[in-house]
Amino acid sequence: MILDKVIGLFSYDISIDLGTANTIVSVKDRGIVINEPSVVAVQSEKYGKNKILAVGREAKEMVGKTPGGIQAIRPMKDGVIADFDMTEKMIRYFIEKTHKRKTFVRPRIIVCVPYGLTGVERKAVKESAMSAGAREVFLIEEPMAAAIGAGLPIKEPRGNLVVDIGGGTTEIGVISLGGLVISKSIRVAGDKFDMAVVDYVRRKYNLLIGERTGEEIKIDIGSAISLDTPLRMQVKGRDQVSGLLHTIDLTSDDVREAIKESLKEISNALKDVLESMPPDLAGDIVEDGIALTGGGALIRGLDKYLSEIVKLPVYVADEPLLAVAKGTGRALEEIDLLQQLAYE
Ligand SMILES: Nc1ncnc2c1ncn2[C@@H]1O[C@H](COP(=O)(O)OP(=O)(O)OP(=O)(O)O)[C@@H](O)[C@H]1O
Ligand SMILES: [Mg+2]
Repeated sequence: MILDKVIGLFSYDISIDLGTANTIVSVKDRGIVINEPSVVAVQSEKYGKNKILAVGREAKEMVGKTPGGIQAIRPMKDGVIADFDMTEKMIRYFIEKTHKRKTFVRPRIIVCVPYGLTGVERKAVKESAMSAGAREVFLIEEPMAAAIGAGLPIKEPRGNLVVDIGGGTTEIGVISLGGLVISKSIRVAGDKFDMAVVDYVRRKYNLLIGERTGEEIKIDIGSAISLDTPLRMQVKGRDQVSGLLHTIDLTSDDVREAIKESLKEISNALKDVLESMPPDLAGDIVEDGIALTGGGALIRGLDKYLSEIVKLPVYVADEPLLAVAKGTGRALEEIDLLQQLAYE
């Protein structure tokens, strides 16, 4: 009994997939405990203190709908911390929510960060977690976490290729013997798709819609390939010319056209990685294929689209939105793996 309590105090370690779009927190031996949008709603400074009104799902509901005086902030942008102060507050909020009761033991935290952060950016993430109450902070790179979460045999002497398409970044990683052999990160992912849809609807239909509507359209009818029966959706917005509210019919072909350039950037990055791959590892990819993770992997037909371009098998991993979080959580459970992967 007493021993349980003592152990309870120490098994406080948590892992955080600090994503541009979603933050997912797991606790050792308990799995995922928080999965919420990376959004913070604050009262603007001119109305007094920069007071936090909501974090996560509740705050995301406010994006684009906030009255004067309230601001919905996404502290992470393009896979990096755009607002240090808000990121820290968000991490602190999630840590406190994870452990409702007070405890003396500060947690060890492993945070998943995009590949290729600068030293300054890595330090910023670490400091955020430290000042949010961590005792010790480890970082793991996103392609590695994605590969672990996708269930790839990363420790074997075999080429494993994963493409994680998140909100802010697309990360491509080739992993063998537990290490990243090649990696590439581009700042083109879900958020860019949303913006591309917003731009397209404005250009083609003179209709003004917000980013959240752009995201809804992408999720509901977005497709990377031409569908036999195109999907349709009614979209409401403001007519740019008359200024009046207006409704249009949008199809999956519209969305495909809208996100075409972004998809091309992703396929070009993948081609670059494949071209620089050692031949032996490349042979493994021909057999095992390419795993897609991250929310962007859920765009209809993306696996087929990429497969046709690179002429290799491509598949969507199980629960792609959770792959990185699951991989980060696994690293937490395997201390040796953690020490091998974490870096300063
Ligand atoms: N069904 C879906 N179809 C298309 N896109 C989707 C779908 N579901 C979620 N998304 C998109 O996935 C993105 C979020 O994915 P994910 O949670 O993997 O990103 P993240 O980890 O927060 O970001 P990053 O890794 O870039 O920091 C968002 O852009 C969201 O719109
Ligand atoms: Mg991610």
